[in-house]
Amino acid sequence: MCGIIGYIGEREIVPVLIGGLKRLEYRGYDSAGICVINNGLNVVKKKGKIFELENQPELKEIKGKIGIAHTRWATHGEPNKTNAHPHLDCNKEIAIVHNGIVENYHSLKKLLENEGHKIISNTDSEIIAHLIEKFYSKDLEEAVIKTLKLIKGTFGLAIIHKNENKIIVAKRGSPLIIGIGEGEMFVASDVSAILDYTKKVIYLRDNEIAEITKDNYSIKNLEREKVDGKIHEIQWTINQIEKGNFEHFMLKEIFEQPEAIENILRGRLKKGKIKLSLNLDVGQINKIIIVACGTSWHSGLIGKYLIEEITQIPVEVDYASEFRYRNPIVNENDLVIAISQSGETADTLAALKEAKSKNAKTIGIVNVVGSTITQDVDCGIYLHAGPEIGVASTKAFTSQVMTLLLFALYIKQEKGFEIEKKMLEELENLPGKIREILEKSEEIKKIAENFKESSNFLYLGRGLNFPVALEGALKLKEISYIHAEGYPAAEMKHGPIALIDKNMPVVFLATKNNYSNKILSNMQEVKARGGRIVAVVNEKTSEIDKLADYVIEVPETLNYLSPIINVIALQLIAYYIANFKEIDVDKPRNLAKSVTVE
Ligand code: AGP
Ligand code: GLU
Repeated sequence: MCGIIGYIGEREIVPVLIGGLKRLEYRGYDSAGICVINNGLNVVKKKGKIFELENQPELKEIKGKIGIAHTRWATHGEPNKTNAHPHLDCNKEIAIVHNGIVENYHSLKKLLENEGHKIISNTDSEIIAHLIEKFYSKDLEEAVIKTLKLIKGTFGLAIIHKNENKIIVAKRGSPLIIGIGEGEMFVASDVSAILDYTKKVIYLRDNEIAEITKDNYSIKNLEREKVDGKIHEIQWTINQIEKGNFEHFMLKEIFEQPEAIENILRGRLKKGKIKLSLNLDVGQINKIIIVACGTSWHSGLIGKYLIEEITQIPVEVDYASEFRYRNPIVNENDLVIAISQSGETADTLAALKEAKSKNAKTIGIVNVVGSTITQDVDCGIYLHAGPEIGVASTKAFTSQVMTLLLFALYIKQEKGFEIEKKMLEELENLPGKIREILEKSEEIKKIAENFKESSNFLYLGRGLNFPVALEGALKLKEISYIHAEGYPAAEMKHGPIALIDKNMPVVFLATKNNYSNKILSNMQEVKARGGRIVAVVNEKTSEIDKLADYVIEVPETLNYLSPIINVIALQLIAYYIANFKEIDVDKPRNLAKSVTVE
């Protein structure tokens, strides 16, 4: 969640730090702050947006060569100036910025207070500065290591001392990277913060600490043993993390879906064969368990339908947060797939740990290259969807579904079966079909306008399109604050039907498949009770016209691929409704792009 940027070098430092914070805004935050060394520690903090911090007059005076900055997403203590990071020790010599949670901060705080430390904020983070102060005697790194050994919980940390020409960073469960420049170095929680300056980065691993000077870095574990950091060359470009001509990142990312799907297929589908570099013996897989959260969990549900039908291997899908605590039945013949756009979601990481402790084989389906999940799994498949900045996930979802389909087809192929020609053709046709729906965005916008005053919505679908209904409802909730629920269409009569009246719009996923007729009956039931219907269909028939108030026609494709097409119509509906309500869809209230705390 939230973000960290730090800089050591010769540039004018405030624009580097403030610019970095702006690049991190999409992650969600409530306050921000900056600290630069120049004759002591110069700190400026502010509740609210980065531009408000930027407008603070004190900031204009600040010069220096070493600094750290933070956007906070409060976990302990309300969002206000005092609780904003950086936090200082009693002598105002040490400054820290922290992402994550110190779980044992209560007892540590007591200990420090008994020793005379004055803790002024309500955060869990401030005690880190005081612990470092307690242990510091000329060796900052050693003091930090002693501190980290006491801390339970998670951290991405950047630390400076007023008398030391270095930044210390450390990581456990919350991302932290080092950006390598020439005669300058960067630290950040996310590559987008430093992409303007360097593409060479090192991802710290859990329980690693690094000492960074302007020309050098050294990475160690908590036993002070040297560790080699692998340098990654980032492929993302600045254009990808800017909005271009789009009003919002979310809309840009919705429109990037044809290319995202092309990127997944590129190099992986060759001459009718699927190539995935997975170190996996598919014949050994007894059962597959998918763990994920939110939108990624929805793609996992679709993955279950796909993998079970295509490979006949049983699949369970679990919320990562549930899996981690329910003592799941998993063993070495099972394959656990972690799906995550960010690769940093705390619950998903913990679920992975649980799976590994039971000797399961693990795979990651992840977008962010080098992220923590990618370091923790046995093997993986990258989405290569490019950066997803909008808090509401769109292109990552369709890319995940596509990847799960490829994975299912790959298992089939590895078991010695041919992949049908029709499937191969449709995979090639898919990007074009997605473009066809995107061309209808004005039409969908007009439909959306009719619902800007609604306060509830129901989304219904069957089979593979049931998770699409869940995803459509989640998108609407997240960015328009309209209460929405997704259900398997047949479940409506077991309860939700009681809600149907003229104020309850119902979105039906009614594209052609084995259950199309059944869906029509469900529509009749809604119509009979005065509900307003939006139908996503392949073809406008007179029957649909009679039943539905609004129809969105999408291209026909194979049933296995229909979720990818259908969800795009729902993404656009959610986007436009939120837009009519004048909500900033890229930064919806209370949400963070990646949830790195429990
Ligand atoms: C998606 O729109 C949400 N913001 C959220 O549910 C998200 O999918 C979830 O937090 C999981 O994130 P991940 O894919 O980065 O692990
Ligand atoms: N737990 C810390 C706080 O509430 C850090 C939150 C964050 O990750 O931004 O201040």
